[in-house]
Amino acid sequence: MTDKKQQRYRFSDAPIWDLQRAYYEQEGPRAWNNDQVPQYITSNPMIATSYAEIIFGLLQDLMGKGYDSEPVCIVELGAGAGRFAYHVLVELCKLRDYAGLALPPFRYVMTDLAMTNVLAWKEHPALQTFIAEGLLDFARFDAVHDTALELVVAKTAIRAGDLKQPLIIVANYFFDGIPQELIYIGEQGQVYEADVIVELPEHTDSLKPSEVIKQMSLHYEYRHAPEYEQETYPYREVISIYQEQLQDSHILFPAAGFTCLERLNQLSQAGFLLVTADKGDHLIDNFKFAEPPELILHGSFSFNANYHPFQHFFEQQGAVTLFPPHHYKNINVGCILNLNDPAGYTNTRLAYRRFVERFGPDDFFNLKEWVDLHLDSMGLQQILSFWRLGGYDAEFFIQCTKQMSRLLPDANEDELQDIARGIHLMWSAYYVMEQRYDLALDAGLILFEMDMYAESKRYLEISINWYDDDNVSTVFYCLAICCFELELEADALHYLEKLLELEPEHEEAAALLHHFQNNA
Ligand SMILES: C[S@@+](CC[C@H](N)C(=O)[O-])C[C@H]1O[C@@H](n2cnc3c(N)ncnc32)[C@H](O)[C@@H]1O
Repeated sequence: MTDKKQQRYRFSDAPIWDLQRAYYEQEGPRAWNNDQVPQYITSNPMIATSYAEIIFGLLQDLMGKGYDSEPVCIVELGAGAGRFAYHVLVELCKLRDYAGLALPPFRYVMTDLAMTNVLAWKEHPALQTFIAEGLLDFARFDAVHDTALELVVAKTAIRAGDLKQPLIIVANYFFDGIPQELIYIGEQGQVYEADVIVELPEHTDSLKPSEVIKQMSLHYEYRHAPEYEQETYPYREVISIYQEQLQDSHILFPAAGFTCLERLNQLSQAGFLLVTADKGDHLIDNFKFAEPPELILHGSFSFNANYHPFQHFFEQQGAVTLFPPHHYKNINVGCILNLNDPAGYTNTRLAYRRFVERFGPDDFFNLKEWVDLHLDSMGLQQILSFWRLGGYDAEFFIQCTKQMSRLLPDANEDELQDIARGIHLMWSAYYVMEQRYDLALDAGLILFEMDMYAESKRYLEISINWYDDDNVSTVFYCLAICCFELELEADALHYLEKLLELEPEHEEAAALLHHFQNNA
C-alpha cells in the first residue's frame, strides 16, 4: 500500500463521501435497479400516505391560522427514484379533493444531488399532470453546500427569506448517507474525534465507485478534541449530555445535517417542518458503549443516522419534536416542528399520532416481511386486507399473484370484484422505475383467470405495446380468447395470427383459427 492509500482523515472529510457522491451522480436512476439501493421501505404507498396526512395536517393548520394565500413549499432532499414523491402527491391530491376544504396552495419540489435524477423525473410520464397543474417542480440541490433552490420548471429560484409560509422538508434515507462527524466519549467523559484511516483497493482509478466502496476498509484512530467542549461550539449542550451520560461510546454526529437544515431554514420567514425516516436513533440509550459504526453496503453505503442531536437542539430552540415512544425496528419516522407556536399545529401533530405513532411505516414494513414469508398460506381475504393496508401497492401484488391465482377457483363474486378494483387502483398509481416490470401482464393474466375479458384485454394490450420485444405466445392466446368472448372477431383473428407467427405449432390456436374461418 502507498502512503496515499493509508491516509488519516477527519471522518467527515474522508474520501468515502466523495465516492458516495460519485456513485449517485454516475448511476443516476440506475442506482435503484435490482434493488442495489433499497427503496421499498421508504417509497411504498403506505409511508407516502403517512407523510401526505402530515402535510395535509400542516396545510389545515396554516389555513386555521389565517395563512391561506401564500404557497407552501414542500422540498424533498435526495428524492432518488422519485416514487415516494409521486405517491405523496397522489395521496395529497386525493385528500384535498375528498375533504373539499379550502387550503393554502402548495408546491412539491423534488431535489437531488444527481442531475440525471432531476432530468429523469422531469420527463417521467406519471409526473406530467402534477407539473402541468403547477404542483411539482424540481431542483438539483446539493444538501451539503447549496443555499438556494433553482427551480427547473418555473425557472426561478427560492433564496433566503423568499418563503412566507413554513418550509416542509422531507428527508428519507438521507441523513444516513451524507457526511457525519465521528465522536468518541472516553471512560471519563473526555471527547475525542475518531479519525478514519481508509484503506482503498489497488488501482482505485480504474474501478467504479461501487467497486471501491465494496473493497475499502476503515480503521479508526483517536485524537483529543477540546473544540467540542468550547462555549462557542453550537451543539455544546448536546455534547455535554453525551459526556454526562455516556462512556466508551462512539457517536455519529450530524454536523452537515445541521448546517443543511440551517440553510433550508433561512429560505423561510416562518421556520420549517421536517418529516424524516431513517435507520436512525433518537434515544441516547442506543449509543451506550456503541462500537465504531459499520458501513452498510448497498451499491453505495450508509451508516446509521443520529436523530438525537436534532431532537435535543431544536427542542431547546422551542421546537416540538415527534418520535415514536416505542422502539423502531427498520425505520424511524420523526417530525420536527421548528415553527412559531409549534404546539398550536394540532392537525399536524394528530396526523403524526395517527399515521406514525399508532401504526406507522415501520409497523407496516415489519408485517410485510412476515407476510412475504407466509403468502402461501394466506387466503384471499387476508391478501385483500394487506393489499389495502399497503395502499394497493404494486410490489405486493406482484409477489402474491401466484397465490391469488391458486385461490381464484374458490373466490366468490365479492372477492372477484374487490380484486378487480384493487388492480384498477394499483394501476392508476403505478410509478414505472428505471428497471421496468411488466405489471400490466400480471394484472391482465389475473383478470383473464377471473373471466373479466374486457379488463384483461385492456392490460394485456398495454403489456404488448410496452414490451414489444418480449411478447410471449400466452399473451396473444389470452388476447384472442378475450376478443372472441367480447365478439371482436377481427381482433381475435389478428391475435391468433400473431400467436402462430411466434409459435406455428400451437395446436389450440390452429384449431381456433380453423373454427373461426369455417364459421366466417
Ligand atoms: C439512499 S438514497 C435515498 C433515496 C430516497 N430518498 C429513498 O428513500 O429511496 C440517497 C439519495 O440522496 C442523494 N444524495 C446523496 N448525497 C446528497 C447530497 N449531498 N445532496 C443531495 N442529495 C444527495 C442520492 O443521490 C440519493 O438519491
